[in-house]
Amino acid sequence: MSQPKIYVAGHLGMVGSAIVRRLRARGHDNFVLRTLQELDLTDQQAVNEFFAAERPDQVYLAAAKVGGIHANNTYPAEFIYDNLMIQANVIHAAHTNGVRKLLFLGSSCIYPKLAPQPMDEDALLTGKLEPTNEPYAIAKIAGIKMCESYNRQYGESHDTDYRSVMPTNLYGPGDNYHPENSHVLPALIRRFHEAKVSGASEVVIWGTGTPRREFLYVDDMAAASVHVMELDQATYRAHTEPMRAHLNVGYGSDVSIAELAGLVAEATGYTGQIGFDVTKPDGSPRKLIDSGRLNTLGWQPQIGLEEGIGRAYEAFLKTTAAGAKQN
Ligand SMILES: NC(=O)c1ccc[n+]([C@@H]2O[C@H](COP(=O)([O-])OP(=O)(O)OC[C@H]3O[C@@H](n4cnc5c(N)ncnc54)[C@H](OP(=O)(O)O)[C@@H]3O)[C@@H](O)[C@H]2O)c1
Repeated sequence: MSQPKIYVAGHLGMVGSAIVRRLRARGHDNFVLRTLQELDLTDQQAVNEFFAAERPDQVYLAAAKVGGIHANNTYPAEFIYDNLMIQANVIHAAHTNGVRKLLFLGSSCIYPKLAPQPMDEDALLTGKLEPTNEPYAIAKIAGIKMCESYNRQYGESHDTDYRSVMPTNLYGPGDNYHPENSHVLPALIRRFHEAKVSGASEVVIWGTGTPRREFLYVDDMAAASVHVMELDQATYRAHTEPMRAHLNVGYGSDVSIAELAGLVAEATGYTGQIGFDVTKPDGSPRKLIDSGRLNTLGWQPQIGLEEGIGRAYEAFLKTTAAGAKQN
């Protein structure tokens, strides 16, 4: 049987490139790929023309505007506009051009700030969001609801089967190490690496170090994405509901920021002090998602946090050697 033609949107990003790696490792080589320069997914006409010309069979939607607290706070308009446009354009063009299978990548920040821990899929839309990334989270929630709505309206007539996965914090090769706009783990990798190189005696981290966070290696996320895309329809439907059709993808346990800093220090070879600036805010005390549904469906993470941080640091060293990614 010939291979389906797969469009991975955002294939140069951390997650998109890992999905392509995963599919290639499984012997898939029928891809259609476009860089942002070749196809700006906020441009509706260009997206429609692309889908009409290429007519992919499956879509992995891993293109998005992504960043840490600082970026979300500084560019809220871009975070809501770009993400709403990208997903609306891609999901609708997929539908009008006969794509039956699509996987939308959301984020665990869709859940309310004060949701009971660990957060399961039912926590969606039960309370107020974390204000710092509310625009991004609202866009992601709209993406989930688009997939569900297209399934509900076109599932029968067009065999539409659009699924969503909500990853926890991800890290690994292809991460963003920008000094201000990055997420916590890549930011720590950069800071501890620079401290080691400069011989600094102390690295000071914001907050008390007690908040707990969950981290998943990006290749595990890619494996989960392909696993969910390939689940047969009856199984997926049996474990979701028409208006709660997303699945969490997490590591299953969390670490304190202080423990995380210790692991990063070890991986980078930094031997100085680790200090905490307790005048800076901590954020939520705990953010852990419940991935029990996906575990029941046959996926488990394979890469432990210590091993993953080691691999991520190796990848970081290669990118710094080649000029670290700056945005
Ligand atoms: N990273 C995490 O910790 C994390 C956690 C949970 C969920 N996710 C989700 O996973 C998905 C992928 O994230 P990531 O970490 O892989 O982000 P990433 O490394 O920044 O990759 C995103 C990709 O999307 C592309 N892109 C952005 N705007 C575009 C546009 N207008 N048109 C076409 N392409 C565009 C980017 O191109 P350029 O590089 O050229 O800008 C980049 O290749 C996102 O949906 C994100 O919400 C990520």
